[in-house]
Amino acid sequence: MIYKFYQQHIFPHILNQVMQAPSLMDKRRELLLPLSGEVLEIGFGTGLNLPFYQQVDTVYALEPNADIYQLAASRVHETPFEVQHLQARAEKLPFADQSLDHIVCTWTLCSIAHLETALDEIYRVLKVGGTFHLVEHVLHNENKNIQRLQNLLTPIQKKLADGCRLNRNIEQALINADLNLTELQYFDAAGIPAIGQRMLLARAQKT
Ligand SMILES: C[S@@+](CC[C@H](N)C(=O)[O-])C[C@H]1O[C@@H](n2cnc3c(N)ncnc32)[C@H](O)[C@@H]1O
Repeated sequence: MIYKFYQQHIFPHILNQVMQAPSLMDKRRELLLPLSGEVLEIGFGTGLNLPFYQQVDTVYALEPNADIYQLAASRVHETPFEVQHLQARAEKLPFADQSLDHIVCTWTLCSIAHLETALDEIYRVLKVGGTFHLVEHVLHNENKNIQRLQNLLTPIQKKLADGCRLNRNIEQALINADLNLTELQYFDAAGIPAIGQRMLLARAQKT
């Protein structure tokens, strides 16, 4: 009961604050400014990406957690383009095959329970030539000490942060999903603890 209270009333506010770290906001800008037209954003969260869609007509804001989405209300209200909330999961996207040019995930692939299924769905709904744009914290492939800590702490992190895993190898998962990596940039985000600091900004195309 206390855990449920934490998940519904405390965690969404923590998420909203933590995800506004300046180093993360800079990467949102870099990832999203080039996008135009219609965009599906998976794991929309509290709407922190909205100011960085400068040439977009419609955002399909896929967010399964109503307690989190309600914190996006004022940002959605202030947005000059259409934002359509879809209460659904990445593992079953409510879109036809080959219907989208752009899909976005920011710090969401860590939380999706069935990552492989979700990436298959992303592949299915992207048009040929369409692009998946993402920025995620990832398994630290170069530092074995951090990697060990990431593996050790992931069960606790999953409880505290709504299913978030610290130890996912996202590059490998994209390759396994047959997506063609057109941009791949690893970096350490300033102001984030070492176990979640290694990040990947990538673009992957369906060819
Ligand atoms: C760490 S938050 C990131 C939120 C937002 N993308 C951002 O950049 O601030 C992860 C988000 O993924 C959502 N999520 C978790 N499992 C999901 C799933 N299976 N399908 C879609 N979204 C999911 C959560 O509800 C949460 O809003």
